[in-house]
Amino acid sequence: MPRIVVLTGAGISQESGLQTFRGPDGLWNHERIEDICTPQGFARDPLRVDRFYNNLRAQLPTVHPNAAHRALAALEQAGRDGQWPGHLTIITQNIDDLHERAGSRNVIHMHGELLRLRCTHCHATPAWHTDCTPDTPCPACGTATLRPDIVWFGEMPYHMEAIARQLEACDLFVAIGTSGVVYPAAGFVDSVTDHADTMLFNLEAPPGRSTFDQTILGPATRTVPAWTRDLLKA
Ligand code: APR
Repeated sequence: MPRIVVLTGAGISQESGLQTFRGPDGLWNHERIEDICTPQGFARDPLRVDRFYNNLRAQLPTVHPNAAHRALAALEQAGRDGQWPGHLTIITQNIDDLHERAGSRNVIHMHGELLRLRCTHCHATPAWHTDCTPDTPCPACGTATLRPDIVWFGEMPYHMEAIARQLEACDLFVAIGTSGVVYPAAGFVDSVTDHADTMLFNLEAPPGRSTFDQTILGPATRTVPAWTRDLLKA
Protein backbone atom coordinates (compact mmCIF):
# COMPACT_ATOMS: atom_id res chain seq x y z
CA MET A 1 0.00 0.00 0.00
CA PRO A 2 1.62 3.25 -1.11
CA ARG A 3 1.77 5.74 1.77
CA ILE A 4 1.65 9.32 0.53
CA VAL A 5 2.38 12.36 2.66
CA VAL A 6 1.30 15.71 1.20
CA LEU A 7 2.70 18.94 2.66
CA THR A 8 0.54 21.93 1.73
CA GLY A 9 1.22 25.65 1.93
CA ALA A 10 -0.64 28.88 1.27
CA GLY A 11 -0.46 28.34 -2.50
CA ILE A 12 -3.11 25.57 -2.38
CA SER A 13 -5.64 28.06 -0.94
CA GLN A 14 -4.68 30.98 -3.20
CA GLU A 15 -7.25 30.15 -5.89
CA SER A 16 -9.93 30.03 -3.18
CA GLY A 17 -9.22 33.72 -2.61
CA LEU A 18 -6.88 33.55 0.41
CA GLN A 19 -3.65 35.55 0.18
CA THR A 20 -0.33 33.79 0.32
CA PHE A 21 2.43 35.13 2.57
CA ARG A 22 5.27 35.87 0.17
CA GLY A 23 3.71 36.22 -3.26
CA PRO A 24 3.29 39.51 -5.19
CA ASP A 25 0.27 40.38 -2.99
CA GLY A 26 1.57 38.39 -0.01
CA LEU A 27 0.47 39.23 3.53
CA TRP A 28 4.08 39.91 4.56
CA ASN A 29 4.26 42.71 1.98
CA HIS A 30 1.74 44.60 4.10
CA GLU A 31 2.73 43.60 7.64
CA ARG A 32 6.08 42.98 9.36
CA ILE A 33 6.48 39.38 10.54
CA GLU A 34 8.08 40.72 13.76
CA ASP A 35 4.92 42.69 14.58
CA ILE A 36 2.31 40.06 13.71
CA CYS A 37 3.79 36.57 13.79
CA THR A 38 6.03 36.48 16.92
CA PRO A 39 5.27 36.18 20.66
CA GLN A 40 7.19 39.44 21.12
CA GLY A 41 4.94 41.22 18.61
CA PHE A 42 1.87 39.96 20.45
CA ALA A 43 3.28 41.12 23.80
CA ARG A 44 3.99 44.56 22.32
CA ASP A 45 0.59 45.08 20.67
CA PRO A 46 -1.95 42.28 21.24
CA LEU A 47 -4.85 44.30 19.80
CA ARG A 48 -3.02 44.73 16.47
CA VAL A 49 -2.25 41.00 16.30
CA ASP A 50 -5.79 40.02 17.28
CA ARG A 51 -7.14 42.36 14.55
CA PHE A 52 -4.89 40.70 11.93
CA TYR A 53 -6.13 37.20 12.74
CA ASN A 54 -9.72 38.40 13.22
CA ASN A 55 -9.63 39.64 9.61
CA LEU A 56 -8.27 36.32 8.34
CA ARG A 57 -10.84 34.41 10.41
CA ALA A 58 -13.70 36.59 9.08
CA GLN A 59 -12.65 35.72 5.50
CA LEU A 60 -13.10 31.97 5.98
CA PRO A 61 -16.91 31.84 5.58
CA THR A 62 -16.55 33.86 2.34
CA VAL A 63 -14.20 31.36 0.62
CA HIS A 64 -14.56 27.71 -0.37
CA PRO A 65 -12.34 24.66 -0.97
CA ASN A 66 -11.09 24.52 -4.56
CA ALA A 67 -10.46 21.65 -6.98
CA ALA A 68 -7.03 20.93 -5.44
CA HIS A 69 -8.45 20.58 -1.91
CA ARG A 70 -11.29 18.43 -3.27
CA ALA A 71 -8.95 16.20 -5.29
CA LEU A 72 -6.90 15.38 -2.18
CA ALA A 73 -10.06 14.67 -0.17
CA ALA A 74 -11.36 12.37 -2.93
CA LEU A 75 -8.05 10.46 -3.05
CA GLU A 76 -8.12 9.96 0.73
CA GLN A 77 -11.73 8.77 0.50
CA ALA A 78 -10.88 6.37 -2.37
CA GLY A 79 -8.27 4.85 -0.05
CA ARG A 80 -10.89 4.47 2.68
CA ASP A 81 -13.40 2.90 0.26
CA GLY A 82 -10.83 0.49 -1.16
CA GLN A 83 -11.02 2.04 -4.64
CA TRP A 84 -7.38 3.05 -4.36
CA PRO A 85 -4.82 0.82 -2.58
CA GLY A 86 -3.09 3.70 -0.83
CA HIS A 87 -3.07 5.92 2.26
CA LEU A 88 -2.91 9.71 2.23
CA THR A 89 -1.95 12.07 5.05
CA ILE A 90 -1.95 15.86 4.73
CA ILE A 91 0.50 17.90 6.80
CA THR A 92 -0.54 21.51 6.34
CA GLN A 93 1.21 24.74 7.19
CA ASN A 94 -2.12 26.47 6.52
CA ILE A 95 -4.29 27.81 9.31
CA ASP A 96 -7.50 27.81 7.22
CA ASP A 97 -10.09 24.99 7.38
CA LEU A 98 -10.39 24.32 3.62
CA HIS A 99 -8.93 20.79 3.70
CA GLU A 100 -11.50 19.71 6.28
CA ARG A 101 -14.32 21.50 4.44
CA ALA A 102 -13.32 19.61 1.29
CA GLY A 103 -13.73 16.36 3.26
CA SER A 104 -10.15 15.49 4.21
CA ARG A 105 -9.84 13.80 7.60
CA ASN A 106 -6.15 12.91 7.88
CA VAL A 107 -5.03 16.51 8.32
CA ILE A 108 -2.23 17.65 10.65
CA HIS A 109 -2.15 21.44 11.25
CA MET A 110 1.48 22.02 12.16
CA HIS A 111 1.10 25.85 12.40
CA GLY A 112 -2.21 25.89 14.27
CA GLU A 113 -5.73 26.90 13.21
CA LEU A 114 -7.56 30.20 12.78
CA LEU A 115 -10.77 28.68 14.17
CA ARG A 116 -9.16 28.06 17.57
CA LEU A 117 -7.80 30.28 20.31
CA ARG A 118 -5.41 29.30 23.09
CA CYS A 119 -5.57 30.45 26.70
CA THR A 120 -2.10 31.18 28.06
CA HIS A 121 -3.45 30.77 31.60
CA CYS A 122 -5.35 27.43 31.59
CA HIS A 123 -4.14 26.20 28.16
CA ALA A 124 -7.68 25.59 26.91
CA THR A 125 -7.99 25.74 23.09
CA PRO A 126 -11.58 26.77 22.48
CA ALA A 127 -13.09 26.65 18.98
CA TRP A 128 -13.63 30.25 17.84
CA HIS A 129 -15.51 31.75 14.91
CA THR A 130 -15.76 35.43 15.80
CA ASP A 131 -13.45 38.29 16.77
CA CYS A 132 -11.20 38.16 19.81
CA THR A 133 -9.66 41.12 21.66
CA PRO A 134 -7.23 41.32 24.59
CA ASP A 135 -10.28 41.72 26.90
CA THR A 136 -12.09 38.61 25.68
CA PRO A 137 -12.43 36.20 28.63
CA CYS A 138 -11.40 32.57 28.25
CA PRO A 139 -14.60 30.44 28.20
CA ALA A 140 -12.87 27.84 30.41
CA CYS A 141 -11.16 29.93 33.14
CA GLY A 142 -12.61 33.42 32.62
CA THR A 143 -9.28 35.23 32.47
CA ALA A 144 -8.54 37.58 29.55
CA THR A 145 -5.48 35.61 28.43
CA LEU A 146 -6.50 34.37 25.01
CA ARG A 147 -4.25 34.41 21.94
CA PRO A 148 -4.67 33.06 18.39
CA ASP A 149 -3.88 29.31 18.37
CA ILE A 150 -1.23 29.92 15.73
CA VAL A 151 2.42 28.82 15.84
CA TRP A 152 4.51 31.96 15.56
CA PHE A 153 8.15 32.34 14.52
CA GLY A 154 10.41 31.16 17.32
CA GLU A 155 7.77 28.69 18.58
CA MET A 156 7.77 24.90 18.16
CA PRO A 157 5.32 23.66 15.51
CA TYR A 158 2.56 21.30 16.64
CA HIS A 159 2.44 17.52 16.27
CA MET A 160 6.12 17.12 15.34
CA GLU A 161 6.26 13.52 16.66
CA ALA A 162 3.23 12.45 14.59
CA ILE A 163 4.74 14.26 11.59
CA ALA A 164 8.09 12.46 12.03
CA ARG A 165 6.29 9.10 12.08
CA GLN A 166 4.39 9.92 8.87
CA LEU A 167 7.57 11.08 7.10
CA GLU A 168 9.48 7.96 8.13
CA ALA A 169 6.71 5.69 6.82
CA CYS A 170 5.96 7.44 3.51
CA ASP A 171 6.82 6.11 0.04
CA LEU A 172 5.95 9.36 -1.71
CA PHE A 173 6.35 12.90 -0.35
CA VAL A 174 4.49 15.64 -2.20
CA ALA A 175 4.69 19.39 -1.52
CA ILE A 176 1.93 21.64 -2.89
CA GLY A 177 1.92 25.46 -2.95
CA THR A 178 4.76 26.26 -0.59
CA SER A 179 7.82 28.47 -1.09
CA GLY A 180 9.99 26.14 0.99
CA VAL A 181 11.62 28.92 3.01
CA VAL A 182 10.18 28.22 6.47
CA TYR A 183 11.66 25.43 8.61
CA PRO A 184 11.09 22.78 9.80
CA ALA A 185 8.53 22.21 6.98
CA ALA A 186 11.08 23.24 4.32
CA GLY A 187 13.40 20.45 5.51
CA PHE A 188 10.87 17.59 5.32
CA VAL A 189 11.83 16.77 1.72
CA ASP A 190 15.47 16.28 2.69
CA SER A 191 14.46 13.98 5.54
CA VAL A 192 12.71 11.51 3.19
CA THR A 193 14.94 11.35 0.09
CA ASP A 194 16.58 8.14 1.33
CA HIS A 195 13.31 6.18 1.34
CA ALA A 196 10.67 8.04 -0.66
CA ASP A 197 10.10 9.64 -4.07
CA THR A 198 9.43 13.37 -3.96
CA MET A 199 7.25 15.72 -6.02
CA LEU A 200 6.64 19.49 -5.92
CA PHE A 201 3.49 21.15 -7.29
CA ASN A 202 3.92 24.92 -7.39
CA LEU A 203 3.14 28.00 -9.44
CA GLU A 204 6.84 28.83 -9.71
CA ALA A 205 9.99 26.76 -9.39
CA PRO A 206 11.87 27.17 -6.10
CA PRO A 207 15.09 29.21 -6.37
CA GLY A 208 18.27 27.20 -6.92
CA ARG A 209 18.49 23.45 -7.52
CA SER A 210 15.31 21.63 -6.60
CA THR A 211 15.62 18.86 -4.03
CA PHE A 212 12.52 17.25 -5.50
CA ASP A 213 12.70 14.32 -7.95
CA GLN A 214 9.85 15.88 -9.95
CA THR A 215 8.57 19.48 -10.17
CA ILE A 216 5.19 20.21 -11.74
CA LEU A 217 4.54 23.90 -12.35
CA GLY A 218 1.13 25.52 -12.69
CA PRO A 219 -1.95 26.47 -10.68
CA ALA A 220 -2.76 23.77 -8.09
CA THR A 221 -6.41 23.59 -9.22
CA ARG A 222 -5.13 22.28 -12.57
CA THR A 223 -2.08 20.23 -11.64
CA VAL A 224 -3.30 18.43 -8.48
CA PRO A 225 -6.59 16.99 -9.88
CA ALA A 226 -4.66 15.78 -12.97
CA TRP A 227 -2.18 13.97 -10.69
CA THR A 228 -4.84 12.34 -8.47
CA ARG A 229 -6.83 11.30 -11.57
CA ASP A 230 -3.75 9.48 -12.87
CA LEU A 231 -3.22 7.81 -9.49
CA LEU A 232 -6.84 6.62 -9.36
CA LYS A 233 -6.69 5.41 -13.01
CA ALA A 234 -3.38 3.49 -12.47
N1 APR B 1 -1.00 27.04 -7.23
C1 APR B 1 0.19 26.50 -6.83
N2 APR B 1 1.14 27.19 -6.14
C2 APR B 1 0.86 28.47 -5.86
C3 APR B 1 -0.35 29.11 -6.24
C4 APR B 1 -1.30 28.32 -6.97
N3 APR B 1 -2.46 28.84 -7.38
N4 APR B 1 -0.32 30.41 -5.83
C5 APR B 1 0.87 30.58 -5.20
N5 APR B 1 1.58 29.42 -5.22
C6 APR B 1 2.91 29.17 -4.64
C7 APR B 1 3.86 30.35 -4.76
O1 APR B 1 4.61 30.20 -5.95
C8 APR B 1 4.74 30.19 -3.52
O2 APR B 1 5.90 29.42 -3.81
O3 APR B 1 2.71 28.97 -3.27
C9 APR B 1 3.86 29.41 -2.54
C10 APR B 1 3.36 30.19 -1.33
O4 APR B 1 4.48 30.52 -0.55
P1 APR B 1 4.32 31.36 0.82
O5 APR B 1 3.46 32.51 0.59
O6 APR B 1 5.70 31.56 1.32
O7 APR B 1 3.49 30.38 1.77
P2 APR B 1 4.00 29.11 2.62
O8 APR B 1 5.11 28.41 1.94
O9 APR B 1 2.81 28.34 2.97
O10 APR B 1 4.58 29.84 3.94
C11 APR B 1 5.11 29.01 4.96
O11 APR B 1 5.41 30.90 6.40
O12 APR B 1 4.57 32.91 6.96
C12 APR B 1 4.74 31.64 7.41
O13 APR B 1 3.51 30.38 8.97
C13 APR B 1 3.42 30.95 7.70
O14 APR B 1 2.73 28.71 7.13
C14 APR B 1 3.36 29.85 6.64
C15 APR B 1 4.82 29.61 6.33
